Amino acid sequence: MDPTSLQRLVLLTSLLSGSTHQARLTVTPSSSQVFEYKPVSLRCEDASEGWTVRRNTSKERRAECGVWGISDGISCNVSHMDPLDSGEYWCESTGGSTSNSVTITVSGGSVILQSPALPVTEGDDVTLTCRAKMADPPSAEFYKDGVFIGTEPDGHMTLLHVSRSDEGLYKCSFQGKESPWSRLSVSGKPPMTTMEPPTTSSSSSTMNAPSTLSSLHLVFRLLRHLVVFCPYCICTYIVVSLYRERARGNSMEMTPPTHAEQGLDDDYDDVMSAVTTEHQF
Ligand SMILES: *[C@@H]1O[C@H](CO)[C@@H](O)[C@H](O)[C@H]1NC(C)=O
Ligand SMILES: *[C@@H]1O[C@H](CO)[C@@H](O)[C@H](O)[C@H]1NC(C)=O
Repeated sequence: MDPTSLQRLVLLTSLLSGSTHQARLTVTPSSSQVFEYKPVSLRCEDASEGWTVRRNTSKERRAECGVWGISDGISCNVSHMDPLDSGEYWCESTGGSTSNSVTITVSGGSVILQSPALPVTEGDDVTLTCRAKMADPPSAEFYKDGVFIGTEPDGHMTLLHVSRSDEGLYKCSFQGKESPWSRLSVSGKPPMTTMEPPTTSSSSSTMNAPSTLSSLHLVFRLLRHLVVFCPYCICTYIVVSLYRERARGNSMEMTPPTHAEQGLDDDYDDVMSAVTTEHQF
């Protein structure tokens, strides 16, 4: 066996063992802030059996969904959010593995800032939307880390091609009423197999992203399946070529020349005779 095929086998095996995926938590609506009395649905994606949504709030630690929401094993719904439901939410397996965590702030006030609940990826366009309880504000002021960053006429602020420097705490205000603060996290370009759809609250920027992402997902699923089969193919190839080499070696030493004249399509016979002669020693 040549060393390159052995190296390839090792590489493929390590790729294969690295492709196990982890559960992640998604939130609907995908916003880090919600108004009081509004519903929220939390879901453990890519999760097998035995995952539950847990949360830390000001009153509870690691509280299971059954205590504060309605669970069906994969998703967890709260029909009327309360300011006391503000906190960190995540998925946790019975074995103790955890997903990403999401911060949800429930506002009892009249203004919220809708920003992505999940970390956004470097290069994405992210829209921050200022919402008022009664009617959407005709204009809103935006703040980052305590500093005024601009007034937007329709209450939407779009950050183009976000980078790490856009991370921070954001809030908005409308007619003197302020939303709570929310943290925007920007993650580096993810490894391809764990790519997440960008979660922006703008409808226009999400239009074409999911289709390219789902086709990427398809390609990687296909690759993963190919990777699963390759070690089997390589092993089979190695075993067969080993037998052939032995058969050739043995037939040159031990079988009479008349036997070799029978032709190349007697490979199987050669292998079998090689095996049997070997066992006679
Ligand atoms: C939740 O609280 C526990 C106990 O205080 C802590 O260990 C854990 O890191 C918290 N999890 C999150 C996601 O904040
Ligand atoms: C939660 O809500 C979502 C969408 O509204 C629904 O598809 C899901 O079945 C609900 N889950 C539970 C446990 O009620």
